[in-house]
Amino acid sequence: MQETVRVELGARAYDVKIGPGLLARAGEEIAPLLRRPRVAVLTDETVAALHLDALRAGLEAAGIAMTALALPAGEATKSWPHFERAVEWLLAQKIERNDIVVALGGGVIGDLAGFAAAVLRRGVRFVQIPTSLLAQVDSSVGGKTGINAPQGKNLIGAFHQPSLVLADTDVLSSLTPRDLLAGYGEVVKYGLLGDATFFEWLERNGPALATGDMAARVRAVTRSVQMKADIVARDETEQGDRALLNLGHTFCHALEAATGYSDRLLHGEGVAIGCGLAFELSARLGLCAQEDPSRVRAHLAAMGMKVDLRDIPGELPDTAALMALMAQDKKVVDGTLRFILARGIGSAFVTADVPQDAVRAVLDDARAG
Ligand code: GLY
Repeated sequence: MQETVRVELGARAYDVKIGPGLLARAGEEIAPLLRRPRVAVLTDETVAALHLDALRAGLEAAGIAMTALALPAGEATKSWPHFERAVEWLLAQKIERNDIVVALGGGVIGDLAGFAAAVLRRGVRFVQIPTSLLAQVDSSVGGKTGINAPQGKNLIGAFHQPSLVLADTDVLSSLTPRDLLAGYGEVVKYGLLGDATFFEWLERNGPALATGDMAARVRAVTRSVQMKADIVARDETEQGDRALLNLGHTFCHALEAATGYSDRLLHGEGVAIGCGLAFELSARLGLCAQEDPSRVRAHLAAMGMKVDLRDIPGELPDTAALMALMAQDKKVVDGTLRFILARGIGSAFVTADVPQDAVRAVLDDARAG
């Protein structure tokens, strides 16, 4: 049941392998990249307790020794102090220019370890072993690495492509249902932005995927990664098309900021709600059919996901404050906010031409529920 997606980036091309049992086969997959049989693994304490022994055994089976540093789990780890600790630890492990750093974990670890690899000795290679659904379908692929600054998320970083990604779909069963569904928000995003047939498939197969159907999980991760790989190959550094991957994210980032990047709203939950709002905005602007936003919302609801602003626990700021938060989005270019809107399910596009009144009306209605 193993699939391989190639990210076509010339001299920096690499494979994303997807399927069950990849942790056990990690040694044979990584061995061809190594000059000497040892790797340094960066992970977090939660993932280490669940999966580090399996990775160690998988590496040992191919004669590869492993040394590991487990950082605290959580977004706060994507910061200078933990980054400094990781880089100093890699130097103390005498990781050389030709060695490999392995990132075992979700998006936080993948982003931090990738950035550490980008700057260590002016750049060493790294392998992503993503353990969350969100990391498997999004953050482990495409080479965006970095940490957060006090001024905002992901403001310090580098493009540094991994040399290999191993997405073991067995590890998804160790996720809480909430974390799995949050990652599913990014999966739905791919169907909505560029593949209506995939969205239809998700409408039929999403519930089985959520309850553990391995074939459905492999297929959903594979299709998501294929779509991301195609977009990244066209526009590695986000000069154009790569912004499509931010469907739902302008609303999402405002909602995440409004909820203090807390447990009240996980990133993937915000993406799902944001996709619904982006379709609502597109319908109001006459770009897509009136039925499209309802269909998006119906699928999210059928999956038991957050759909509306009222599904976010606690008070939210008013519409003006949410719009002010949207104006701080990273996609602001020359003072103009770019939105990802849609001409229908599977047909997203990037535009700067969005009347503020329409955005205000969508948020007002969403707040009223
Ligand atoms: N997560 C969006 C991107 O990789 O461009």
